[in-house]
Amino acid sequence: MKLSVPMVAFLLVSLLTVNAWSAQGKKSTMQKQAFGKTDDGQQMDLYTLTNAKGMEVAITNFGGTIVSIKVPDKNGNIADVLLGYDDVSGYQGGKAYFGATIGRYGNRIAKGKFTLDGKTYTLPQNDGVNTLHGGTKGFSQRVWTAKDVSSPAGQALQLTYLSKDGEEGFPGNLSVKVVFTLANTNELKIDYSATTDKDTVLNLTNHSYFNLSGKGEGDILGTELTLHASKFTPVDATLIPTGELRAVKGTPFDFTKSTAIGARINQDDEQLKLAGGYDHNWVLDAGKTVALHLAAQAYDPTSGRELEVLTTEPGIQFYTGNFLDGSIHGKGDKVYNKHAAFCLETQHFPDSPNHPKFPTTELKPGQRYHTMTVFKFLTK
Ligand code: GLA
Repeated sequence: MKLSVPMVAFLLVSLLTVNAWSAQGKKSTMQKQAFGKTDDGQQMDLYTLTNAKGMEVAITNFGGTIVSIKVPDKNGNIADVLLGYDDVSGYQGGKAYFGATIGRYGNRIAKGKFTLDGKTYTLPQNDGVNTLHGGTKGFSQRVWTAKDVSSPAGQALQLTYLSKDGEEGFPGNLSVKVVFTLANTNELKIDYSATTDKDTVLNLTNHSYFNLSGKGEGDILGTELTLHASKFTPVDATLIPTGELRAVKGTPFDFTKSTAIGARINQDDEQLKLAGGYDHNWVLDAGKTVALHLAAQAYDPTSGRELEVLTTEPGIQFYTGNFLDGSIHGKGDKVYNKHAAFCLETQHFPDSPNHPKFPTTELKPGQRYHTMTVFKFLTK
C-alpha cells in the first residue's frame, strides 16, 4: 500500500499523541462516579484522573475538593496521601476544609471587616471574631460546574463557579475557574483564574492535608520540610498577622534547610504556643512570580515519598493539623489525631485587605486574577 503525505502526517501525529498519553504502556484516563447527595438533594460527582504511571487524583465538584491523591512509595506501593472523607456527607459543613478549594479569601480577615475604595465591607465571623476561609459558606461548601478539558498535557478537570455580588459579604460578581491537570510527570497542577465586575479582594488556595506515609497513618512529625522563605508573618492571639515580617533565622520557623517538622514544634516559643504548633504564613523569597517557583519540599524518610510545591504565590501557610483532635472519623473510619497531616496552602498573606504594606489582593474589573500551584510527587 502506498501512503500519501497527509496519511503519513496523520499517522505520525496519532503516534505522538498516543505516546504522550500512554508512556509506559498505560493510558491516562478520567472516570466519573457518584459521590453522594448534598443535604438539599443535589447529586455530586467524583472525577478520578489517572496518568500513564498509575498516579491517581480524585476530585469532587462539591467544594472543588481533592478527595484523594494516590502515589507510589520508594518500593512502588501506591497509597492515598490525603486526609478526607468517603463521600460528600463528610465534606458538608466540615470545619477542617480537607482538600477544598478555598475562597473568596483563603485564611483570615480580622474582625470580619475590610475597607475598599472608602467603603467598609462586613463578612461573617466564623472563626472567633475573624473571618476564615471565605466565611460561613465559602467556596469549599459550594457546588461547582465540572468539565473534562483533558489534552496531551494530561487529564484535566475544569471547575467553574459564579460567586454573586454580596455573597458572604464580598463585593462584585466573581467568575472563578480552577483547572486541575494531572501530568505523566506525577505533577498535579492547579490553575486558578477569576474576573469581577466590581472592585473586590480575592485569595484562592487549596487546603489539602498531606500525610506522605499514606492512609493517614501515624503523624507527620518525622516528615522533613524545606521552605524557601527567610521570613514569616508572626500572629496575634487570634492568628491575625501583626504586620511584621520577621526573620526565621535562629527560630523554630527556620526551614530554609530540610528539618523534621517535629524537631522544634514543642519548643517554648510564643508563636508556636499561640497556634498550638505551626499555623503561619511564610514569606516566600521568590515573591509573587509569573512563572512557577519552588516554594516547599516535604520528604517522608520512611516511605521515601517526596512532595514538591511550586507556585506563583508570594506566601505559603504551613499548618500542622493542630486542630485535629481525634473527633473526626475520615476515610475508612480512620480517626485523625493532632498532627496527622500537614497543609501547605499557597496564598497571599492573611488579612492583606487590612495591611496596605502586604502584596495586594485587590482585583478590579478588566483585570484577570491568575495564579498557579503544582504538587509534584517523587520518591527518593
Ligand atoms: C488553616 C488555618 C488554620 C485552620 C485550618 C482549618 O490552615 O490557618 O488555623 O483553621 O485552616 O482547620
